Amino acid sequence: MSLIMLKDIAMPQEFVTPAPMTAAQQEQEQQLFEQAKECILAHKALLIAHYYTSPLIQRLAEETGGFIGDSLEMARVGKESPLSTIVVAGVRFMGETAKILSPEKTILMPDLSAECSLDLCCAPSELKRVKAEHPHATVVAYANTSAEVKALADWIVTSSLAVELADYLKGRGEEILWLPDRHLGSYIAQNANTDVYCWPGRCVVHDSFEAAAIAEMKKQYPGAKVLVHPESSAEVVALADCVGSTSQLLAFTKKDDAQTYIVATERGIFYKMQQANPQKQFVEAAIGVRPGVRLEGANCPWMSLNSMAKIIECLEGTAEQKAQHEVHVPENVRVDAMKPLNRMLAFSAAMKAGNVPNDL
Ligand code: 13P
Ligand code: SF4
Repeated sequence: MSLIMLKDIAMPQEFVTPAPMTAAQQEQEQQLFEQAKECILAHKALLIAHYYTSPLIQRLAEETGGFIGDSLEMARVGKESPLSTIVVAGVRFMGETAKILSPEKTILMPDLSAECSLDLCCAPSELKRVKAEHPHATVVAYANTSAEVKALADWIVTSSLAVELADYLKGRGEEILWLPDRHLGSYIAQNANTDVYCWPGRCVVHDSFEAAAIAEMKKQYPGAKVLVHPESSAEVVALADCVGSTSQLLAFTKKDDAQTYIVATERGIFYKMQQANPQKQFVEAAIGVRPGVRLEGANCPWMSLNSMAKIIECLEGTAEQKAQHEVHVPENVRVDAMKPLNRMLAFSAAMKAGNVPNDL
């Protein structure tokens, strides 16, 4: 296999990552928890939270009959829910995905400026140019992209299905143009043993995990297993006992018998890992300094923009405030983006059933 990096793509020089919550803000979160709970129940809203949101937001989802999951599961649950108001606590592409799949529902987000560095790495205008240079390639876009980028893709995929989809496309003799995460692109190429044209994007959190420091941690915690999300570098992936999406990493901790885990993904996942395995120890993998990125540990700065006060405002603010929280996707973009998203959901269902037709 070979990974062909696309080199002439304009990337942000710097990711201006918002500061994580202060101690005072966290204290306020606790105080607003009960109010947020009443508010969700009163409005008959469904709270769908990603594993990377704060423990308190995940608890709010649990205590209001909501859902916590990885990005694929969030898309599926949003689409299947009979409720007409959905609050998506995560980053913007997750809210947009919910709107694309359920245009009739009101999709609200605590903070519409919750970006993702992968989404920021991938401008639709650049993709149009690159597509024109690779007219025969099948465009496979990671879910962590804007609605406009999705509308230009043939397939959308999340990390839980990426290798399987690359394998499937290889079987059909298709050439893959992958975007935007370079590390996941390399992981796919290696594991599906196929050639991939690869966008040079990165996740500021997963790209910051440091292989040498994690190798040192393994000495410090003998017997510990290493859990890695495939958005990390090949050097970090090489140290892993399990590589997978957030849900796959969580599932591994439930069936595995180690007592300690070094976790190379965002720290929000600790809430569910610890809840499922109260007797086990979970330690955050070491991160290094990267130019233009200011992180405080393995903490996604955009996920941290979600808060109780903003969830309350989504549902009970003034009309003007509420409008700041509602996700809109232009209809022409939505219709085009829905096709590759539905393809992803059909592929996922067919994989589960163990029977993937050749013509999806
Ligand atoms: P998952 O699909 O594993 O939930 O990952 C989403 C994400 O943003 C990883 O950084
Ligand atoms: Fe994006 Fe990385 Fe944050 Fe996930 S952890 S939402 S990939 S910036």
